[in-house]
Amino acid sequence: MLTDRFERVHDYLRISLTDTCNLRCVYCMPEEKIKCMPSSQLMSVDEIDQLARIFVNNGVRKIRLTGGEPLARKDAGEIIQCLSKYPVELTLTTNGVFADQYLDLFLKAGIRSLNVSLDTLSPASFFALTKRDLWEKTWRNIMLMIDAGLHVKTNTVVMKGVNDHEIVDFVALTKDLPIHVRFIEFMPFQGNSWEHDKVFPMSQMLELLAEKFSFIKLLDAKHDTAKKFKVLNYEGTFALISTMSEHFCAGCNRMRLTADGKMKNCLFSQSEVDLLGALRSGQEIEPLIQFCLDMKEKALGGQLLPDYEKIDAGALKNRSMIAIGG
Ligand code: 5AD
Ligand code: SF4
Repeated sequence: MLTDRFERVHDYLRISLTDTCNLRCVYCMPEEKIKCMPSSQLMSVDEIDQLARIFVNNGVRKIRLTGGEPLARKDAGEIIQCLSKYPVELTLTTNGVFADQYLDLFLKAGIRSLNVSLDTLSPASFFALTKRDLWEKTWRNIMLMIDAGLHVKTNTVVMKGVNDHEIVDFVALTKDLPIHVRFIEFMPFQGNSWEHDKVFPMSQMLELLAEKFSFIKLLDAKHDTAKKFKVLNYEGTFALISTMSEHFCAGCNRMRLTADGKMKNCLFSQSEVDLLGALRSGQEIEPLIQFCLDMKEKALGGQLLPDYEKIDAGALKNRSMIAIGG
């Protein structure tokens, strides 16, 4: 079992497959053009498999593939297939644009649930937010996934003055669709122009929703980051992820591998441990995993202040979101 200094058991690994993406979400990709990792620096299918096996042997029970956009990687299918042999809940976070090409594989690989980024229900603001005209394609693919019996959770990064007026429309979707819509408070990363007054906090989302719907709180599991709710008699559910206004680090069970094989013990960690380099030079990996976990801070990578209004985003030492993987 992988345990940190605060006795948190870590059984969930998020593996980023690439730091590239077919979209250009404003809150994720730095504005100035960044160089993406050369492919020799990326973990190969075999290296992902070897590292994943070590984590699974040490108690990991859930693996999420992330990006950039994981399905933008040409061998994404091979990786999904390869990891499906492990006794883990396998899932991914995707923008959904390529999902139609992978439906059969998802089902064959035992994937039951997927997170799909969707920040707006308007094709025009989708274009403004992602610089790509792909709302219809994304929406069609979400419907295809639901029809195929997959549990779809949408991720909406709520930014004040940008898409906060759509929260009600997103929840309205859950009336007839068996979909789980999630609202994520805007988080600061390298180059994403974060400012505290762009955060739309959970308390305000709940106030706004309470004016329109009667909903109940659902039970959350121990490690859930999302607080779940359901409007009475609606098919779907919704949830709020309050990283900025009310963090949930006490129940954290997550570890991350970046596409270039660096382990991060937290989304906001400054430190990284180079597992891929170690694997390539024949070093033992397990002690390095534990070493990385031993550095894990109690909350928010030891970097963000719990009072988000006091955060100086410019002083944070971290990667951009696209290079971490979410
Ligand atoms: N703040 C909050 N959520 C973010 N995501 C990406 N960047 C941010 C950010 N700055 C979320 C997106 C995506 C997932 C990988 O991470 O919703 O679905
Ligand atoms: Fe791509 Fe996802 Fe980042 Fe948007 S949030 S640019 S879809 S990786």
